[in-house]
Amino acid sequence: MYKQLEERGMERPPVNVSSLARMKAEGEPIACLTAYDASFARLVDEAGTDLVLVGDSLGMVIQGYDTTVPVTVDDVIYHSRAVARSLRRAFLMVDMPFMSFSSATQALDNAVRLMQEGGAMMVKLEGGASQIRIVEHLAGHDIPVCAHLGLRPQSVHKIGGFKVQGRDAAQAQQMIKDARALQDAGADIVLLECVPNEVGRQVRDSLEVPVIGIGAGPEVDGQILVLYDVLGITPGRMPRFVKDFMAEAHSPAAACAAFVKAVKERSYPAPEHCFS
Ligand code: KIV
Repeated sequence: MYKQLEERGMERPPVNVSSLARMKAEGEPIACLTAYDASFARLVDEAGTDLVLVGDSLGMVIQGYDTTVPVTVDDVIYHSRAVARSLRRAFLMVDMPFMSFSSATQALDNAVRLMQEGGAMMVKLEGGASQIRIVEHLAGHDIPVCAHLGLRPQSVHKIGGFKVQGRDAAQAQQMIKDARALQDAGADIVLLECVPNEVGRQVRDSLEVPVIGIGAGPEVDGQILVLYDVLGITPGRMPRFVKDFMAEAHSPAAACAAFVKAVKERSYPAPEHCFS
């Protein structure tokens, strides 16, 4: 019945918010990947990934849309359920889709669905200072939250494309301020997408909670990539931060293990994957 107590004695117990915080404190990089189904989730978990995200990137890599905007809460729950069934060690974070957190009440209702129906252990939402009240509301109900800053793909039509964020000094300072405010509102993790290395470093230094980067340079507390990019499945031109680990691997499992190893050894991201 007390499965969590039994798990504490395991050689590699399941990851939780405390172990993620400890990894930051001890300087161990956190390796994260997305997954959308049970088979890949098992593979990613067995490769030693610390955190698995059921991202709304599923709208692009699974459903074939150009953006994440059409993804619904039901879509995310469907995929999250499948992923949750396979994970043994990795921590499961699930995206709150576009407009599923436009008020505190709606955010709480949908976060509860992601946890109860989808098996999420943490929810991720995109947004800066405008989401502080929402994060506070969720955290006040003991819902673990990841705040997604930098490039926010759900805002692509407002931003005018998938672009590097925080190159302008004022924008970078605002991002750092927002990150602190979101942490103070109760966010347990910050995810930073597509920012110059220096902004990644400054956000990491400003926060006590782990900062996971995607295109945020080598000096954040962890790295995340979209699984299909790591496996070289995504067609067309890739963002600069993507590395195809399948190019030098003999199997998808080996490619995921190579990603985890590269993150842990800090050989990924290399300078060619970074923004200045
Ligand atoms: O939806 C997603 O996969 C994400 C990652 C790009 C971090 O948010």
